[in-house]
Amino acid sequence: MTDNGTAPHGAVLGGTAPPDGPLVELRGAGKSYGNIRALHGVDLQVRPGRVTCVLGDNGAGKSTLIKIISGLHQHTEGEFLVDGRPVRFGTPREALDLGIAAVYQDLATVPLMPVWRNFFLGSELTVGPWPIRRLDIARMKETADRELRHMGIVLDDLEQPIGTLSGGQRQCVAIARAVHFGARVLILDEPTAALGVKQSGVVLKYIAAARDRGLGVVFITHNPHHAYMVGDHFSVLRLGTLELSADRSEIGLEELTHHMAGGTELAALKHELAQVRGVDVEEMPEKEDLSAPVANSSEGNS
Ligand SMILES: Nc1ncnc2c1ncn2[C@@H]1O[C@H](COP(=O)(O)OP(=O)(O)O)[C@@H](O)[C@H]1O
Ligand SMILES: [Mg+2]
Repeated sequence: MTDNGTAPHGAVLGGTAPPDGPLVELRGAGKSYGNIRALHGVDLQVRPGRVTCVLGDNGAGKSTLIKIISGLHQHTEGEFLVDGRPVRFGTPREALDLGIAAVYQDLATVPLMPVWRNFFLGSELTVGPWPIRRLDIARMKETADRELRHMGIVLDDLEQPIGTLSGGQRQCVAIARAVHFGARVLILDEPTAALGVKQSGVVLKYIAAARDRGLGVVFITHNPHHAYMVGDHFSVLRLGTLELSADRSEIGLEELTHHMAGGTELAALKHELAQVRGVDVEEMPEKEDLSAPVANSSEGNS
């Protein structure tokens, strides 16, 4: 899989997971913040080599769900299992030690540092014995270059500050980094939300690449088109509960879009707007068009 000679979490790759069993599983899981029940009765499975998409409107509970899996929050109801064993993480570090890595929208990078330094941020390689130990710059550059190429990411110059990369490229570096450091489960919180059409396509491509390397990917998005390009399973949250959980074979893009868009709510809005002068409701879509159609729609789903 990856070159684990240098990977601190590489040990987990051997894994004791039963073959074909889910890496991560939620059974009737929920979370309350004080009186606020943000999540309730959620079943979810993350399997190796598959992309599980979590969709839902703002406030639906997507972030709460992945914060439980990545160790930021603890569930307050139901079960949470990793490799079939119940777990309750105190910190993200504990999740990481089991190979669960999250990439958040506000990426934890240092914009002015070179790409290769950011790749190894917090896990720098060193050479030589104490007290003359120093950074092994050559090996870090070489490893970062190789790992990025493995994922199909070719950057002209790893010396350039990561802040000069596009948002899509930075997401890709973060994905390659997680793969290198031994992630088995990769959680991406709305990685395409702030991106344009072309850059979204690039990120979708690397989601597919991570899946093809055998990772279980959790892809959070509110764009059903993006989800459908790479997804194997779709879980739609509404007001903290699972509204839909379907495999790709069970649902088409149109139906998924309808679930996401709240078709009935839109019809009501259309009716109201029909009373307003100057609004041509005939021009309104039947369903809310959430698409940012990606240029090469075949790209992500190779
Ligand atoms: N730390 C928190 N304290 C209290 N309520 C929260 C907290 N985080 C989220 N919530 C509430 O939980 C619900 C789900 O939020 P969230 O998981 O962020 O949804 P999403 O990511 O789908 O937009 C919302 O009603 C939100 O206000
Ligand atoms: Mg969120």
